[in-house]
Amino acid sequence: MKLDLSRVAAAARQAQAAASEPFCAYLYDLAALRRHAAALARSLPVNCELFYAIKANSDLPILQTLAPLMAGFEVASGGELAWVRAHFPSIPVIFGGPGKTDQELREALAQDVERLHVESLGELERLAWIARERGRTVSVLLRINLPLHDLPETTLTMGGRPTPFGIDADQVPQCLAWLKQHPEIHLKGFHFHLLSHQLDARAHLKLLESYFRQVRDWQERHALTIEELNVGGGIGINYREPDRQFDWPAFTGGLAALVRHWRMEFCRIRFEPGRYVSAACGYYLMEVLDIKENLGRTFVIGRGGTHHFRTPYAQGHSHPFQVLPVERWPYPFPRPQVARRAVSVVGQLCTPKDVLAVDVPVEQVRVGDLLLFPYAGAYAWHISHHDFLRHPHPLHLYLPTEASCHAANQ
Ligand SMILES: Cc1ncc(COP(=O)(O)O)c(C=O)c1O
Repeated sequence: MKLDLSRVAAAARQAQAAASEPFCAYLYDLAALRRHAAALARSLPVNCELFYAIKANSDLPILQTLAPLMAGFEVASGGELAWVRAHFPSIPVIFGGPGKTDQELREALAQDVERLHVESLGELERLAWIARERGRTVSVLLRINLPLHDLPETTLTMGGRPTPFGIDADQVPQCLAWLKQHPEIHLKGFHFHLLSHQLDARAHLKLLESYFRQVRDWQERHALTIEELNVGGGIGINYREPDRQFDWPAFTGGLAALVRHWRMEFCRIRFEPGRYVSAACGYYLMEVLDIKENLGRTFVIGRGGTHHFRTPYAQGHSHPFQVLPVERWPYPFPRPQVARRAVSVVGQLCTPKDVLAVDVPVEQVRVGDLLLFPYAGAYAWHISHHDFLRHPHPLHLYLPTEASCHAANQ
């Protein structure tokens, strides 16, 4: 997951030079995305498959780059399902997420989703009713919340304690009894997604081991045939210490050993990560509009803000950035600048919450320079409140993959 900043910086400077307004953009390196996703898929044990959780970033060029490399896409709403089906009519789709409506369940059947992840007994009842209405059978996984007391603390925990996600593990016997009476629903196995932002490969292996142990226990206790286990996504990006990322090679090595130890080779194991797949291919760029001192602190105000790039505020971190010097200065007066100073980077919104980085030392920054925020390819544009204050949206630029460059040059 090495970032190729020189290619990105050159493209950013070129795009800024062509802009007639102060510059603000998302820039995605599709070649880097393709290399990264291919390496992830290649390194998993043979009975493992990679689905991409499109909620992280569902832009079409991102999905088009990933589609040939992934086993399929995971969607979490009727809107995501419609988007995927409009552009990828035959790609395998997993449909999960809480609070599915009857209409979404009907669409899931109509659009032939490969697997439905069911979140509650109530949803099972409604799904069975809809399946009967259509004379259909449906294959499902039950999403389960396990009471795990040693779950690592992250900023996004979806399980291990009371949450709205999944079925309480204690209700599994009740679900299995219900399923015996409902042949229209085929149970293929279980789904777990207990947390996001996992940065520690060993802790993630431990979490997966808890799933394997639990599934083995249910299998024996209830004489179940389990064909499939979905272990969710949740692998994090280290925004605070970008040089210390999740150790993927250690994880896949440990996973192969874990699969052998728990004799899980019989079972198809699916992963559905979002952040870890697409975060590193995306960059958010702001042109510096103003620099000012205010009650002893230095603020750099960039074009854009958290209404485009809510990731730092949502996760409570100071986002790493680099200053890209830009030599153009069109005004007849001196250029505002600071050197060897700690600066806070903020956006254009009228709220003190519009903060992207706090008290970060910089060598030099001037009005008109560009600020480049890496790791902005997941839960960035897609989780932001775009129209607050009605500032213009950023440009969305896609650096092509080598294959599309090659095709364009033919
Ligand atoms: C059920 C489920 N699967 C997968 C994901 C993707 O998680 P991440 O982007 O952390 O890998 C999420 C994220 O919320 C989720 O809720």
